[in-house]
Amino acid sequence: MPTMPPGNHIIPFLILALRVAGQQAIGPAVTGAATNAGPASTESVITIPISQSSFTPFSVPSQAPVSGVYPLTDPRSPPPVGSSLIPDFSQAWAAAYQEAKNKISNFSIEEKVSVSTGVGWMGGRCVGNTPPIGDNGTKFPSLCLEDSPLGVRFADYVTSFPAGINAAATFNRKLIRRRGLFMGRENVGKGVHVALGPMMNMGRVAQGGRNWEGFGADPYLTGEVAYETILGMQEGGVQACAKHLINNEQEHFRTQSSSDVDDRTQHEIYAHPFLRSIMAGVASIMCSYNLINGTYACENDKIMNDIIKREFGFQGYIMSDWGATHSTMSAATGLDMTMPGDITFQSGTTYFGANLTAYVQNNTIAQARLDDMATRVIAGWYLLHQDAGNFPPTNFDAFKPDSEETNEHIDVQEDHHKVVRKIGAASTVLLKNTNNALPLNKPRSIVLVGSDAGPGTIGPNQFPDQGGLDGILAMGWGSGTSNFTYLVSPLEAIQQRARKDRTSVSWILDDFNRNRAGNMALGRSAALVFISSDSGEDYITVDGNEGDRKNLTAWHDGDDLVLAVAAQNNNTIVIVHSVGPLILEPWIEHPNVSAVLWAGLPGQEAGNSITDILYGDWNPSGRLPYTIAKQMSDYSAPLITGGSGNDVLAIPYTEGLNIDYRHFDSAKITPRFEFGFGLSYTNFTYSNLRIAKVGGQGSTEPALQKAWAAGKATPIATGSSAAPWLHRPLYTITFDVENSGSLWGGDIPQLYLHFPASAGEPPSILKGFTNVEVLPGESAEVALTLSRYDLSYWDTVAQGWRHPNGTIGLSVGTSSRDFRLSGNITIT
Ligand SMILES: *[C@@H]1O[C@H](CO)[C@@H](O)[C@H](O)[C@H]1NC(C)=O
Ligand SMILES: *[C@@H]1O[C@H](CO)[C@@H](O)[C@H](O)[C@H]1NC(C)=O
Ligand SMILES: *[C@@H]1O[C@H](CO)[C@@H](O)[C@H](O)[C@H]1NC(C)=O
Ligand SMILES: *[C@@H]1O[C@H](CO)[C@@H](O)[C@H](O)[C@H]1NC(C)=O
Ligand SMILES: *[C@@H]1O[C@H](CO)[C@@H](O)[C@H](O)[C@H]1NC(C)=O
Ligand SMILES: *[C@@H]1O[C@H](CO)[C@@H](O)[C@H](O)[C@H]1NC(C)=O
Ligand SMILES: *[C@@H]1O[C@H](CO)[C@@H](O)[C@H](O)[C@H]1NC(C)=O
Ligand SMILES: *[C@@H]1O[C@H](CO)[C@@H](O)[C@H](O)[C@H]1NC(C)=O
Ligand SMILES: *[C@@H]1O[C@H](CO)[C@@H](O)[C@H](O)[C@H]1NC(C)=O
Ligand SMILES: *[C@@H]1O[C@H](CO)[C@@H](O)[C@H](O)[C@H]1NC(C)=O
Ligand SMILES: *[C@@H]1O[C@H](CO)[C@@H](O)[C@H](O)[C@H]1NC(C)=O
Ligand SMILES: *[C@@H]1O[C@H](CO)[C@@H](O)[C@H](O)[C@H]1NC(C)=O
Repeated sequence: MPTMPPGNHIIPFLILALRVAGQQAIGPAVTGAATNAGPASTESVITIPISQSSFTPFSVPSQAPVSGVYPLTDPRSPPPVGSSLIPDFSQAWAAAYQEAKNKISNFSIEEKVSVSTGVGWMGGRCVGNTPPIGDNGTKFPSLCLEDSPLGVRFADYVTSFPAGINAAATFNRKLIRRRGLFMGRENVGKGVHVALGPMMNMGRVAQGGRNWEGFGADPYLTGEVAYETILGMQEGGVQACAKHLINNEQEHFRTQSSSDVDDRTQHEIYAHPFLRSIMAGVASIMCSYNLINGTYACENDKIMNDIIKREFGFQGYIMSDWGATHSTMSAATGLDMTMPGDITFQSGTTYFGANLTAYVQNNTIAQARLDDMATRVIAGWYLLHQDAGNFPPTNFDAFKPDSEETNEHIDVQEDHHKVVRKIGAASTVLLKNTNNALPLNKPRSIVLVGSDAGPGTIGPNQFPDQGGLDGILAMGWGSGTSNFTYLVSPLEAIQQRARKDRTSVSWILDDFNRNRAGNMALGRSAALVFISSDSGEDYITVDGNEGDRKNLTAWHDGDDLVLAVAAQNNNTIVIVHSVGPLILEPWIEHPNVSAVLWAGLPGQEAGNSITDILYGDWNPSGRLPYTIAKQMSDYSAPLITGGSGNDVLAIPYTEGLNIDYRHFDSAKITPRFEFGFGLSYTNFTYSNLRIAKVGGQGSTEPALQKAWAAGKATPIATGSSAAPWLHRPLYTITFDVENSGSLWGGDIPQLYLHFPASAGEPPSILKGFTNVEVLPGESAEVALTLSRYDLSYWDTVAQGWRHPNGTIGLSVGTSSRDFRLSGNITIT
């Protein structure tokens, strides 16, 4: 068994001193708890502690310090999950820059330009390719850039991981890191240099078509998931790509809309996940299709240069989204690579290539800027050691899956299905559970209702890029997808369980035969109704949904199906597979709807994951990464429709900081289920809150620390927003979590700050969370930390991070509205 280093705890940011033994892993390997929902079964993969899987971590020092800057500077050896160490990749970047500069020293202008210019759509094996430099790439190889944020798109023998939104719903950094690591390894195994993810747009608009690719509607949560995902992916050896920079919050008119966003909102909400990505050492960033304040993202000097490259200190390269480059001169101010290279797909023309060469040759664009572009791109390759010689050649062909010349059919799946299944379960949110409906306990008879319970009629890849809905929904549609190697439906998995339990199972997969469904539900011990809602990218329209959802109701008449079944069975359990929030009002309070499970988009093990939850092999610990409202108009940011011809549609972000729960809190609107909400099969009790200032702050930047404490904004300097002194722990928030119920389970304590009114923040803002697993009757001590950055807001006048005047309130709770402990911090 590979040993995990000391300090590699479940709990991020400092120490979680669990009082029970053997709790290093996610699912504790305890035995003798046969009646518990939890770790008893030895059969289920879900109970295998992750540290006992075949995973061997890259070397990490055995005596990792608990605070300060991580001593190793190699992204292939990131700080362990659970430490408060801030990775410092500056030495790795410096070395990569040196090698890259050396590399391009004998490149011609044309060769440097080529490094920055994709070969054009479908011009190579991957969705993006740079040309080889020198004869057959003797100077620099062709780079393969490939979708998607949940797996290797257009390839065989790969894993379809749970979608980003499910990674977020786990609130479990260790699982998130592991998902990233395995995706990174699969990409490398296929010969992908740059994996086009993660995606970190914000879910500002509840109907936003691509929200499911991202990490929910809170910047802190999104930032943490982006951070762990990137650390994992790059540990696996692939260059990650943080996308889409920025404010690409809806699909409608995405190439012809201007997101008009004020500076404070930009910093605190939308740019924050990119800052965390840069802190994780991300090699590349993708600029988005839309305009910001009237300027295209891929020409936006303020975003690309002032914020990303200067203020955040980003040293990697910015590539365009596919076709998002609109000029040579303006783009070259900040863009480092145009993708897929051609102006429009297969036009044979490009804004870079010969155009860029000509501008450089006549000194309209400085040679130094071209050198900077090529250096940044090549540095990313060195940063991840892709020069090492053993990097696999690209061995699949995205566009010719049946060509034997270009597909070597390399199997990169390993045993990644185990973590897929575990994340699928750990991301499932229990929204309602009355009369102990769940977990199921050897029911005599059950009926499964709805097409979402079963397989698609002709398999899991019926629709190109998953642009359609038939059978279990396990990912949305568009470029953020992968082909399923297989997809386990709930029907298949539950039948396996029924064999063991001797349960009689029947099913009706027709969503529209409601009378029959009601009749079949009569007298059954439980009726499980599966409903769904899908969305995706705008180039595919499904049932009138042009990427974005046209409404927030269940597809296929799901609400009526639930009502028809609930009319006949007082133990109706609803399972929802959905890209985002739905309005549940038609049936959520129905007395016969005894339980509701929110399963999101769990990936290829969908059926096994939901079965693990239904039968209590995994006690639900998922939490909502967005708010479920009572009506669509309760959300603050509507989908902007309309626009025609060459119009640029204005999308004013007038709600500012008040998106999702921040708005519900500010406007005092009661949601149906608030952000962060999720039930368990057991209960947790919180006590003993302690707030302590962290001693021994180290000696870096003492003047800046003092100035910050005195209420000054931090000065503008390159990398200032990512400076370690700003992000190092300043306070430790410690408390006890007791499992006061009768079953083993995991909880997600959440930390919210309440800034004084003068700061102009929403009432509550998430600034910490962790996962903790506790045996019945036991307690665990949990420690979260707050940095100066966490305690700051963006001062638009001073252009820096400063703490508010007065006392900052603090709550620890189980959701954004269920606070159990409170305290205060006054910065002195
Ligand atoms: C380019 O320079 C590198 C070292 O900087 C050297 O290894 C390589 O052989 C040179 N290539 C050519 C074609 O001159
Ligand atoms: C490039 O590779 C091809 C195919 O392997 C080979 O036929 C060709 O001779 C090579 N060219 C050079 C200049 O090495
Ligand atoms: C957009 O305009 C707002 C309001 O003037 C300003 O605060 C913000 O910094 C601008 N952002 C960009 C990227 O130009
Ligand atoms: C250069 O850019 C212009 C658009 O500005 C385009 O029309 C032209 O085809 C490009 N040239 C090449 C060689 O791609
Ligand atoms: C430089 O070259 C570009 C591309 O050929 C051309 O559009 C531009 O007018 C030239 N500028 C000068 C100052 O010659
Ligand atoms: C992926 O699925 C599509 C159908 O949706 C199919 O045409 C294609 O061949 C599949 N690719 C691979 C690599 O299996
Ligand atoms: C909402 O959209 C779905 C999917 O297109 C559709 O099935 C449903 O009928 C729509 N609901 C309403 C109330 O229009
Ligand atoms: C609940 O289910 C029972 C059958 O178990 C049925 O008789 C009753 O009418 C249902 N209640 C409602 C409100 O539909
Ligand atoms: C549900 O209905 C069954 C009979 O179908 C009855 O035995 C049971 O008590 C009912 N449960 C509740 C909670 O009403
Ligand atoms: C949790 O505690 C509440 C209130 O004490 C109780 O009603 C509920 O049944 C408990 N739930 C579990 C799962 O133990
Ligand atoms: C904070 O306090 C300083 C010094 O007392 C004062 O100048 C400033 O206006 C205050 N800022 C706010 C937002 O209240
Ligand atoms: C926090 O401070 C406020 C006043 O600023 C006070 O009303 C409140 O009681 C304090 N809360 C705690 C838990 O100390």
